[in-house]
Formats: sequence, C-alpha cells, structure tokens
Amino acid sequence: MFAVSPSGRPIPPGRPADVLARARRVLGEVPEHGIGADAALARVTTVLAEGGIDLTSPFAAAHLQPPPLAVAVTADALAGAGNASLDTYDSGPAAIAVERWVVAALARLAGFDADADGVFTPGGTLSNLTALLLARDAAAARLGLDVRADGVAGLPDPAVFCSELAHFSVARACAALGLGEDAVRTVPVDSRRRMRPDALAAMLRAGGTPVAVVATAGTTDFGSVDPLPELAGIAREHGAWLHVDAAYGFGALFSAKLAGLVDGLALADSVTADLHKIGWQPAAASVLLVRSAALFGPLERSVAYLNPEDDRAEGYDGALGRSLQTTRRPDAVKVAATLLALGRAGLGALVDRCHELAGHAAALIAADPSFELVGGATLTTVVFRYRPADEALADEVNARLRRALLRAGAALIGRTEVDKVTCLKLTLLNPNAREADLVALLTLVREAGSAAERLLEGAA
Ligand SMILES: Cc1ncc(COP(=O)(O)O)c(C=O)c1O
Repeated sequence: MFAVSPSGRPIPPGRPADVLARARRVLGEVPEHGIGADAALARVTTVLAEGGIDLTSPFAAAHLQPPPLAVAVTADALAGAGNASLDTYDSGPAAIAVERWVVAALARLAGFDADADGVFTPGGTLSNLTALLLARDAAAARLGLDVRADGVAGLPDPAVFCSELAHFSVARACAALGLGEDAVRTVPVDSRRRMRPDALAAMLRAGGTPVAVVATAGTTDFGSVDPLPELAGIAREHGAWLHVDAAYGFGALFSAKLAGLVDGLALADSVTADLHKIGWQPAAASVLLVRSAALFGPLERSVAYLNPEDDRAEGYDGALGRSLQTTRRPDAVKVAATLLALGRAGLGALVDRCHELAGHAAALIAADPSFELVGGATLTTVVFRYRPADEALADEVNARLRRALLRAGAALIGRTEVDKVTCLKLTLLNPNAREADLVALLTLVREAGSAAERLLEGAA
C-alpha cells in the first residue's frame, strides 16, 4: 500500500557531516559528458537509499511526514510526466479539471457550500500566507484602502490573533505581508491547549485593526483543536477574517470517529488543509479552501501573455487568479487518485489506525516510570519526556538521547519544547506499525535515555 524504501533503517547512521559527505561522494562531479540515464538513475537511487529516511519504518515517528501511498506516488509521477501547469487553460486543461474536482470534494468534506473554492499550494506555510494575504486585503478594503496599489503603510495597527501554539508560519506570513511579526497577538490556551475564547475577545476589544483570527485545528505538537464555533462568533462580531490552520487536523474529517473534533470548520473564511500530513501524500499536497470564490479577488490577474480578458471571456482561463504562483505543478492529481482508490472510508481507516497507535503509545508511556506523559493522542502525536534520576539533567538527557538515536540510525523521533522544557514527541503516521513496534521503540528511547544519563553523571 505504501511506497517502499529499501534502507531498512529510519535514518542513516553516522554524524550529519559524514552522511552528507558520503552522499556528495556518490554523486561525484557533474560530468562533461553524461553517464547515461540508467547509470544516473542507479546513482541517485544509491544516494537516496543509503542517505535517505525510510518512512515505512515503524521507528520513523518524528514529523508530520507520512509514508506516502503508492497510488499517490504513481499518480504524482504521471503528473510530472505530463508537466501541465495550473496557471492557464492552455497549460493543462485536465490538470485544471482535476484540481477543481479535488477542491470541490474537499470543500464538501469541510462542510462548505457550493460557493466555496480553493487552490493547491506548495505547503501549509504557503496556504497560511495566502490566507493572510486575502485577510489583509479584505481588512484594508473595509477601510477603503487599496493595499495592492499602495502597500500596507495606511493600515493602522494591524492585528492577527492566534494561540500561543499556532504554527510559526503565521508570524512569518505577517512579516512577509508587511504587517510585521509585531502584528501577531498571541492568545493564551486552556488546560487542553486550545485557544481561550474569553482571552481572544478581550484582546480584540483592546484595539487595533483586526486583520484575522487564526485558529488552529490540530496543533503541531499536541493535535489540539481550538474551539472553532466560539472563535467564529467572536471573529464575526469584530469583523475579523477567520482562518483555520487545519494543516494537520483536516484529515480527521476522513474518519467518522474523529470528524467531530473539527466541527465548525465551515464557519471559517479560509482553511488550510495539508494532505501531505494526514492524507499520506508525497509533499506537497496543501490546499487553501475559501468560503466563497469571490474571496480570491485580491489575487485576480489578467496578464497579456497568459490570460487576456477576451480569451477569458471565451472560457480560456486557468487558476492564475487564485494563486501567488504562476507556473504551478498539478499536485491535485495524486490526491484525486488517492480519493478514488481509497474513498473517504479507506482514508478514515488509516486515520483511525494512527489515532489508535497514538493512544496505545500514550498508555505505554503513562505506565512506564522512566517516562512522563506530557500530552497528546488527540490526533496522532504523543509528547513525553524521559525522566532521569536527577531532574536537573532532564533537558540535556532528552536532547542527547534523541541525537544518539539519530546518530545510531536506530529511531527517528521528534523533539519539542513545552513550557520551556525539552520534550520528546512521537508523530505516528504509519498505519502499518504494530503495537509491538511501539514497545520496541520506547525500549530504544529508554535505553538511550539511561545511556545519556550515565554519561552526564560520569562527566559531573
Ligand atoms: C499546524 C501547522 N500549520 C502549518 C504547517 C506548515 O506546513 P508545511 O510544512 O507544509 O509548510 C505545519 C507543519 O507542520 C503545521 O503543523
């Protein structure tokens, strides 16, 4: 079912500099005369097999980076071979039709009505950026300003509200859009790591031009989902655009059991959905959905060499006016193949399995005195710590044990920081992993923790 990588290890053993140098050595120099396609492909295969990660390993559990489905990889290769582009009709009519089809299917899944629209982007970061561009320009238009022509200088004290657990791409987008990272107003979270509506309302009342409220449906570390219906009501009351960053959480909609977690998604003006996270697509397969096609207005363009007005009037138009990109590869093709091959229920079963694995990992961690369970298992992540005898060494031990596992090529687990404390994270997106694999993985973590602890104690 998944594209198989032959390395057998989740990550190559060795120091990073040595691993990278080995790959460079195998590649060699660019030859004056080519070595031919077969030899070239054999060489890059060697580089990828020896130096790459193997996401099909049950010990690969670091990031929101799933093993891709074989059907998606195959469809993506077909899309690459066709080399269509989404910007104009004459760059690829089929690609446009496929993107329309996938966008409509995902918008329906989110609960939007037939007015909704969307566009594929090269990742959640870019979907969030595009959403905030639309929000910024809508806020400016409400004040009679034309940001596209005049820039953002006239926009008084712009404010973008998101929780303290929102993805950093929100701040980067604010910087890129000229709002500045200072525009980000960080709203505290409750004990379940969800944005506090009362705090948001108070901060909105405090002043500024409310450009957007960015809710997160599936925080990167904990999978927690902000209370979307309440936040939608507050955003509406203050005339702010509601963007939901569901890069991680959107996939819950495939599961009948978990879909309720993201109730209220369709109350948003825009939604980021990454199928290269929960969706088992090779990167990138991010979609920005908008409540109404008219919201894409600020991206509208007629360009003489691409989509002049008279051509458009005759139906010769592409998706240039929905994207910051011009040439854009047809990432929707692999998603279409996946939706057709597995259906909602097929994808839902994969989501449920990974959720189950996260619950199992959380139970194993909670029952093990070597570990402290910090949180998670809402979607498919679990955050925890190894507990050394000397708590003062905990941050250093946890950081070292993860690097030791990477260096040995033994396990690929995540690392994060919670309340200024270094934590470990399992991101479980391999539905083929078994409960016994989790036991073995946690044994590796425990052994690496105890080795790091001994080393540090010895050095003290
Ligand atoms: C909640 C959230 N939003 C956005 C992103 C950025 O997505 P991408 O890495 O596809 O740009 C991530 C990445 O992990 C994420 O977890």
